[in-house]
Amino acid sequence: MLTLENVCISYGPVQALRSISLHVAPGQIVALLGANGAGKSTTLRAISGIVPLGSGAIRMGDCDLSALKPHQIVRRGISHAPEGRRIFGELTVLENLDLGGYTLADAAARRANLQRAYHYFPILHERRDQKAATLSGGQQQMLAVARTLMSSPRLLLLDEPSLGLAPLLVDQIFDIIRKINREEGVAILLVEQNANEALLHADRAYVLETGRITLEGPAADLARNPQVIEAYLGG
Ligand SMILES: Nc1ncnc2c1ncn2[C@@H]1O[C@H](COP(=O)(O)OP(=O)(O)O)[C@@H](O)[C@H]1O
Ligand SMILES: [Mg+2]
Repeated sequence: MLTLENVCISYGPVQALRSISLHVAPGQIVALLGANGAGKSTTLRAISGIVPLGSGAIRMGDCDLSALKPHQIVRRGISHAPEGRRIFGELTVLENLDLGGYTLADAAARRANLQRAYHYFPILHERRDQKAATLSGGQQQMLAVARTLMSSPRLLLLDEPSLGLAPLLVDQIFDIIRKINREEGVAILLVEQNANEALLHADRAYVLETGRITLEGPAADLARNPQVIEAYLGG
């Protein structure tokens, strides 16, 4: 479904991605692991068209994404929850969710997506008229993930959804992500520093080191790989 081929991205003189290739099949959860600065967020930004492609190709099915603008990429079914939540604190929960559906012309589809978001995150329904800034950190993270459901996605790009959350909330958010994946059949490209949790829930995984993919395979294999255990699983 999603394919990256030899993707290179630079920020001025900084080469953030050095020819990475990866693949996400329909309905899969694929984890992208790596240390701080490895290029994980840049990979997601490249897919959603926020940073310009240096060279290489990014495709969703037969569609070449590299020529498209971010809102056109959202219309192709790719929805991105960026690093650091990026919710609008002065807007209500409902208004934040509505913004996630701005690419949809169809009001009935927007309403159905809102019900879907509330189905997975009932707390957001309870808090729908509250300003987002008044939510707890965990609830704000839930809002960021819930907002991705508003554009009828086929692929979610989730950038460190567990960052800064207490262990109990980490389990909770991963359970919900897993449930969304199963019930909606949406594929998920999951960026995580929490490699333990990510490998537990993913079908396949890639390890990124300073802009290069150094390991890839079924998540269960990577979880047993001595290199991965030593570097990322606290072995
Ligand atoms: N806006 C930017 N301008 C310049 N360099 C950047 C910018 N964003 C990221 N970088 C650099 O690109 C590399 C990859 O960053 P990033 O994709 O954010 O890594 P990760 O998400 O894995 O922590 C790092 O060296 C980082 O310093
Ligand atoms: Mg990052």
